[in-house]
Amino acid sequence: MASAERPVVEVRDLQREEVPAAVALLARGFRDNPIPTALFGGDPERRRQCLEMMFGGIFRVMTAHTPLVAVDGATMVGVTGVLPPGACQPTNGQRLRLLPSMLPTGPGSLLRLLRLSGAWGRLDPKEPHSHLGPLAVDAHLKGRGIGSQVLHAYCRRLDEVNLTGYLETETEDNVRFYTRFGFQVIAEQRVIGVANWFMRRPSEAS
Ligand SMILES: CC(C)(COP(=O)(O)OP(=O)(O)OC[C@H]1O[C@@H](n2cnc3c(N)ncnc32)[C@H](O)[C@@H]1OP(=O)(O)O)[C@@H](O)C(=O)NCCC(=O)NCCS
Repeated sequence: MASAERPVVEVRDLQREEVPAAVALLARGFRDNPIPTALFGGDPERRRQCLEMMFGGIFRVMTAHTPLVAVDGATMVGVTGVLPPGACQPTNGQRLRLLPSMLPTGPGSLLRLLRLSGAWGRLDPKEPHSHLGPLAVDAHLKGRGIGSQVLHAYCRRLDEVNLTGYLETETEDNVRFYTRFGFQVIAEQRVIGVANWFMRRPSEAS
């Protein structure tokens, strides 16, 4: 790593062959978050494995994703999914194709996941928007400015095309993080026992 403390990273489009590494990074990055803990339980390794199956399924099935990756030299250090307007909610066909990646997590996890995605889907804005997430920095690299560099690059792209941004998140730290980039909380809701915040970043035009 160029500078162990606060590396300057390159943020670019994820290449197809990088998807498995990106999925593994997202699973490590999210492993100890409140939602995966509520979904998959107290065992960290089980959570990581379930997350890897889930994110793998999402990137395989939701083909409209245009993910961004942060790299430090040859090392992938951060990833975010990005779904374009009109493509962020799975169609019925996509839901069916997502099922095999979730079935091995067990019936309880699957039911909780359906409740969560249902609640997120109901709150999804009707206006055209870019949907950010899942976003994670590799587990051992959080708090070094990498996520901020990903957000800068993402917001620059939003501003270039004058598009509204939107995301769901699950901790007050994250809300503070996204607020720095112009996102505002538009709804809050407890789902599967976890606080969820829904945040929108208006475009210049809105
Ligand atoms: C949220 C996340 C992407 C931020 O990236 P990052 O590189 O850690 O963040 P930066 O170093 O650029 O900025 C630091 C800010 O991020 C926020 N943050 C959220 N979770 C954090 C964590 N685990 N460690 C450090 N900062 C965190 C804080 O607001 C922090 O600001 P502060 O220094 O005033 O407390 C990253 O911490 C992460 O991967 N978290 C786990 C997965 C997650 O929650 N993703 C977002 C889901 S919507």
